[in-house]
Amino acid sequence: MARSGENPAKITQIAGVPYDRISQVSVEVAPSILAADFACLGEAIRAVEAGGVSLLHVDVMDGHFVPNISIGVPVVASLRKATRLQLDVHLMIENPEQYIEAFASAGADMISVHQEATPHLDRALSMIREHGCKPGAVINPATPVMMLSEVLGKVDHVLVMSVNPGFGGQAFIPEATEKIRELRDIRERHHYSYRIEVDGGIGPENVAEVVRAGAQILVAGTSVFHTPDPAAAVREMAHLASEAMAQRV
Ligand code: DX5
Ligand code: ZN
Repeated sequence: MARSGENPAKITQIAGVPYDRISQVSVEVAPSILAADFACLGEAIRAVEAGGVSLLHVDVMDGHFVPNISIGVPVVASLRKATRLQLDVHLMIENPEQYIEAFASAGADMISVHQEATPHLDRALSMIREHGCKPGAVINPATPVMMLSEVLGKVDHVLVMSVNPGFGGQAFIPEATEKIRELRDIRERHHYSYRIEVDGGIGPENVAEVVRAGAQILVAGTSVFHTPDPAAAVREMAHLASEAMAQRV
């Protein structure tokens, strides 16, 4: 537990293996705190930490890019003080460039920006890296993978939305699976190194499908926090993911 006002050390390795290397070969569940009770965020974090996760997905919504408002910079700063988990900040906001520095200073580890949210995606991704965070590009369900072709060599991760962003608890859009596969093929062909993340409607029923297609980070809100035992929910999904890894085609 961190003393107040002091950031705890971040996770840099798991069982002696550098985090970056482990994350290239394994699948991780990234609980989305959007589905947690905002009055008890500390408890929610403790629960998923007990489930063994190393990432926490943080959904930032501005009421313009998406029709909902969620959380902002001060909450990320508080999360940073409360946990050693890597903070995966998903910006669903207009003018993302304007806020990158603030989220980086607040303690984000990964920052993802939507291709649809800025005409200057390349600049936004460079800014994220310059501020010491891992840059990720996100595409909405209606956006094809090819819209990212010019930046795929520069990103740490690509986030495929499998719902239309703005709300938790929506149904998985199955076309996302083909995009994951496409991203995996492109990565192999061009020797890129990005991880593939999927977000929206993920739960035990579709973990195997997206992992077999190539997903490595599984964002899950409702299927984690709207269960009586979030730690068990995370463990179950991680287990399903590792079984599916063995069957990847
Ligand atoms: C949707 C958000 C998601 C959301 C997922 O706009 O980006 O991260 O929390 O929630 P579930 O898992 O409930 O679909
Ligand atoms: Zn998200």
